[in-house]
Amino acid sequence: MRKKGLVIAIDGPAGVGKSSIGEMLARAVDYKFLSTGQMYRALAWKALSLGADLENEEQVTAIALKSHWDFVSGEFKVIKIILDGVAMDSRLNSESVGRATSSIARLSSVRKFMCDKQREIGEAGEIVMEGRDIGSNVFPDAEIKIYLDASPQERAKRRVNQLLEEGKAADYEEIFSAIVKRDKQDAERKYNPLTKSKDYNVIDTTDLNKEQVLEKILKLYKDYCSVQ
Ligand code: DC
Repeated sequence: MRKKGLVIAIDGPAGVGKSSIGEMLARAVDYKFLSTGQMYRALAWKALSLGADLENEEQVTAIALKSHWDFVSGEFKVIKIILDGVAMDSRLNSESVGRATSSIARLSSVRKFMCDKQREIGEAGEIVMEGRDIGSNVFPDAEIKIYLDASPQERAKRRVNQLLEEGKAADYEEIFSAIVKRDKQDAERKYNPLTKSKDYNVIDTTDLNKEQVLEKILKLYKDYCSVQ
């Protein structure tokens, strides 16, 4: 049972803006911020670099258990992952790591490992944690649960714009079908799939900018605090 401090859980599909909104929110309320996808990505990165069989639950779980995980609070209380002394950075965002992450995130003992760590990190509260199963599984008693949603077309459009802004090539059709595929994997996963249960505050961000989404979440936060 948690002793103090709120947990704000943000779940939702790929490319909906959970990380950027979550970070903005954490900064606004002076909470820690953890993107749990980065934990799965870090493990996938290590499994790939060791040439592990990504479908082999025992092998991948052993890598997770034998690794040294450090979680350090960085600038604006954003939690950074240090795996075996190596700071996890943009290397986690490559296509190959993304694909490997989808495979290892299906494994039940990997999910248990990650969830236990996430509960330890969030135990003291005062944290915004984003992922796919934070409000449904990791912290079912989170005080505020947000489900961010947006149509796959809108999420693909945002990703294309982001890549173009970074000066990278972007193909809408390719990105759109990758998003649809990722949605299916997240929703159909056997263990802790992405679900939109009724205790979530669902925010459809399709026609909203980041500031408008943040404003809606801050209102929920203030409403919650005012009745406590
Ligand atoms: O949010 P992201 O794109 O960084 O997530 C990377 C992968 O990890 C994606 O395949 C979904 C998975 N994931 C998960 O299964 N559960 C979480 N709590 C967070 C991410």
